[in-house]
Amino acid sequence: MNEKLTSIKQEILDGIENQATSRATAFELRKQFLDSKTGKIGQLMKEMKNIPNEEKAEFGKQVNELKNWATEVFEDLDAKMKAKELKERYEKEKIDVTIDAECEPKGNLHPITQMRNQLIDVFAGMGFTIYEGTEIENDYYNFTALNTPQDHPARDMQDTFYLSPEFLLRTQTSSGQIHVMENTKPPIKILSPGKVFRSDDDATHSPMFTQMEGLVVDKKITLCDLKGMLDVFVKKIYGEETTTRLRPSYFPFTEPSVEVDVSCFECGGKGCKLCKGTGWIEILGAGIVNKKVLENCGIDSDEYSGLAFGIGIERTAMLKYGINNIKLLFESDLNVLKQIDDN
Ligand code: DAH
Repeated sequence: MNEKLTSIKQEILDGIENQATSRATAFELRKQFLDSKTGKIGQLMKEMKNIPNEEKAEFGKQVNELKNWATEVFEDLDAKMKAKELKERYEKEKIDVTIDAECEPKGNLHPITQMRNQLIDVFAGMGFTIYEGTEIENDYYNFTALNTPQDHPARDMQDTFYLSPEFLLRTQTSSGQIHVMENTKPPIKILSPGKVFRSDDDATHSPMFTQMEGLVVDKKITLCDLKGMLDVFVKKIYGEETTTRLRPSYFPFTEPSVEVDVSCFECGGKGCKLCKGTGWIEILGAGIVNKKVLENCGIDSDEYSGLAFGIGIERTAMLKYGINNIKLLFESDLNVLKQIDDN
């Protein structure tokens, strides 16, 4: 019987030497000897019945010793294999952190989106919320309710794309004022950004462009509130030294109406090419909401007053980034677009 135990021991040692090249093969080998049902060492116990009684105790002891020895040997083997595999993995997955990384070019937002976001940021800081209207409007919202009825001469100020006698592509985000005032009770403080459309095409005009309308309706709103808000806006966008001035103008939906100029941020007001020697640059139209417009929306014009302004986003961006042709903003030329990264 002794030889049998010795030969199993040898078999294990040979197996370790020749077969156990990985954790998986070592585990298979272990199973051959130590599996509780089929393992060769366990099977030895079945021999017990053939062993003379007086030798049974000694035999059992020796099988147990063999089992303990084999268990320890295989545990050792497993630890060795684990270390070996880890080392191999480290070798294989080693990376050279000094190699230059391949850089994916980073994109940036379109200048119009950047400008739009900056404007929203400034006015959101003053408590404005966003209302986005629709690009297709009917005549009432785009004109009539804004105190510009059918035969009003101011309709000629904007060359309109009509879709039908009733529907049109909105020419101004001012139409959003009416929707908001029809549906909201004052106090109102909204900003309405979006695309507008006019049959107009030259270096500074495009048939599609973007505006940002502002509307505030509350008790005792005056031109001072308007000037205060616009001052904050121009300082944030064009620099702290920038100031505004209001000039009388005309829009049917505001009374009084003003044209807003900023002190030239290029020359500081001395006079240069950008401001055409005047020291001032026109940036937007604004005014006190015409009482007729408030009444058209069911708002009591004795109790409430409002201010409104309309900012051209392309114009604001062109001035800020020194772009002299509006087409550059619509041609998607990456060489141009990647130069403007202001976010
Ligand atoms: N809607 C005008 C335009 O597109 C701009 C404008 C002027 C908007 C005065 C206003 C405003 O809200 O008060 O030319």
